[in-house]
Amino acid sequence: MRNLIITMAIILNSYSVTGKEVYKNASAPIKDRVEDLLSRMTLEEKVGQMNQYVGLEHIKANSATMTAADLKNNTANAFYPGFTVDSVAKWTEQGLVGSFLHVLTLKEANYLQSLAMKSRLHIPIIFGIDAIHGNANAPDNTVYPTNINLACTFDTLLAYKIARQTAEEMRAMNMHWTFNPNVEVARDARWGRVGETYGEDPYLVTCMGVETVKGYQRNLDNTEDVLSCIKHFVGGSEPINGTNGSPTDISERTLREVFFPPFRAGVNAGAMSLMMAHNELNGVPCHANDWLMNDVLRGEWKFKGFVVSDWMDIEHLQDLHATAENLKGAYYQSIMAGMDMHMHGIHWQRMVTELVKEGRIPESRIDESVRRILTIKFRLGLFEHPFADEAESMKIRLSSEHRKTALDGAREGIVLLKNDNLLPLDTSKYKHVMVTGINADDENILGDWSAEEKPKNVTTILEGLKQVAPNTEFDFVDQGWDPRHMNQKQVDLAVFRARSADLNIVVAGEYMMRFRWKDRTDGEDTDRSDINLVGLQDELLKQVAASGKPTILILVNGRPQGVEWAAKHIPAIVEAWAPGMYGGQAVAEILYGAVNPSAKLAISIPRSVGQIQMIYNHKPSQYFHPYTLNPSAPLYPFGFGLSYTTYKYSDLKLVQKEIRKDGSLDVSVRVTNTGERDGDEIVQLYIRDEYSSVTRPVKELKDFARIALKSGESKLVNFVVTPDKLGFYDKKMNWIVEPGKFFVMVGPSSEDAVLLKDSFVVK
Ligand code: BGC
Repeated sequence: MRNLIITMAIILNSYSVTGKEVYKNASAPIKDRVEDLLSRMTLEEKVGQMNQYVGLEHIKANSATMTAADLKNNTANAFYPGFTVDSVAKWTEQGLVGSFLHVLTLKEANYLQSLAMKSRLHIPIIFGIDAIHGNANAPDNTVYPTNINLACTFDTLLAYKIARQTAEEMRAMNMHWTFNPNVEVARDARWGRVGETYGEDPYLVTCMGVETVKGYQRNLDNTEDVLSCIKHFVGGSEPINGTNGSPTDISERTLREVFFPPFRAGVNAGAMSLMMAHNELNGVPCHANDWLMNDVLRGEWKFKGFVVSDWMDIEHLQDLHATAENLKGAYYQSIMAGMDMHMHGIHWQRMVTELVKEGRIPESRIDESVRRILTIKFRLGLFEHPFADEAESMKIRLSSEHRKTALDGAREGIVLLKNDNLLPLDTSKYKHVMVTGINADDENILGDWSAEEKPKNVTTILEGLKQVAPNTEFDFVDQGWDPRHMNQKQVDLAVFRARSADLNIVVAGEYMMRFRWKDRTDGEDTDRSDINLVGLQDELLKQVAASGKPTILILVNGRPQGVEWAAKHIPAIVEAWAPGMYGGQAVAEILYGAVNPSAKLAISIPRSVGQIQMIYNHKPSQYFHPYTLNPSAPLYPFGFGLSYTTYKYSDLKLVQKEIRKDGSLDVSVRVTNTGERDGDEIVQLYIRDEYSSVTRPVKELKDFARIALKSGESKLVNFVVTPDKLGFYDKKMNWIVEPGKFFVMVGPSSEDAVLLKDSFVVK
């Protein structure tokens, strides 16, 4: 005890010797710095730390083009009617702003930070940004393939690498906090946000989410690390009618078995922020959901970070969900349910301060949130490094190493769906190729959450084709970028030209670029009541194919497209998703065989909207009575994807035939490349519980391995099945591993016919 007191005295003394406040001492423990700073803050400063604003340039641009009425449903653009950028700048100088979002240049970030540095306590701003697939929302950054592509690679090392590089590019722009990963389990193809998720499988989403969190944050103690934000908690990826933010009604069992695991794993991986979801969950809006924020997240999972609201969703407690009679009541509900930071706006400051002064919210509750936020600011080193160096910035962003990762990611994440011996293309046979379709020569391959980029930073598909096959003559028939307003004359022209080509390539899909917010057909707030090709694209495809010349369909989109006709009649189909800045090169390399495709679907592709909900891990009774006129099977199942080589699966071995509840099972399988090309195969392991006290899915992915195999090469792939992969919630919602028989299925996709099968018993 005596030693401790002496040590404390020395430490305290050393702080006063430096003449600095404890919170300014970089070598003091973060906890002490937080408490010291908190003790110096006024109530107004504390409330300000819990608030975000959109950036000044964003305000300027939108106040010039939007009306106050436009703000109501817009979740991407904002300004503050009645207030100018000067007001926001002044509040920043007064230390009343904790965070900004939608700041897109380093210059503006440094400027805003310089205002914060003028405030009484010099508390730095934390800048948040939607760096979903690279820091693509701000120009001049590497644009990696979007999350659904990444999931189709099944490459967790790549997920880590992309997150790490993104963190470096963000810090080079003075950005500290990415609103990613989106770890929602996507179970409805109508929903426009499918492309920013890792697909339909809880295990795959978990693996990708965890590596992404680790890649962004590492230990969150370095000036190259950024805070990650797992989102959106929870259920919005199974919206009741497919539209973003519509109600969700999901049982606690499904929440715990399907939707919670990626969030819980994200928390365990160290994610220090989390965003609530727009939607209500079983009658309670997520933003006022005490059970989610306090009981589950902080209670059960021991989350230590801070919770941020989604765009104007606290306001929506009043003006949409109507659980609060007025705005002040909405702030009250949300804070008391566990909210820490408000995205975003002007009323928070006054009303929350009043709520405390009126005694409705205890100041200790505010202190809790401010502690969490300040802790992150200290851990990120913002007090010591509030600015980023403009001279260094472009040495890091768009570096050749990062660009290469973007290209490699696209090569790994594009799925070959169909190939009737047409691919890879023979350049001597197909000398004259007609290329058409809305996505043939457009930046839309960058996908949602990307800014408009300089053309030199993007290789479109047409450019990729020309680059990869320089001696082929490409005849491009432009269909514009807009699927809603295609021109019949251009369609007719393509149909005419198709007849004289040796081969036709139709690049179809959806439109996702944010800078044309209202023209998109896919992406955030762009949900659909069908999943067919939009506009004249179907006609274009059918008529071009009617030329009798071989035709290839390339799809660029975020949500699955129900291309049933094409699957029957078109000899080759490639699902490119939104493959990022070098997506065009990767598509061309796959068509011409420079790259052997290896990706597998992270989401089932339904035939039509009527098949939704279409998931592979459904319950046994789902198709007890199949659909009458149409097949019940998906167009392409989860885990499916073709290669230019063939793989043989053999020798499935379960080392133990019986295990204890707490034991583990060793599984091995031999995979042989029986074709003539080297390739990467994604080996998948599924489990099914034979009989159980509550119903269990027909199969669930529990492990996978991405392996490289040279032509003729054979490898033994080993898996270990641990008890956590066999458990479920019993009738009383206790997590158990039930004794009995389990099936293990290993193979190249979730389709029964291609899986090797064996069983074991849990004692
Ligand atoms: C989205 C969030 C996003 C936020 C800020 C919201 O509309 O739902 O995912 O992080 O906007 O851009």
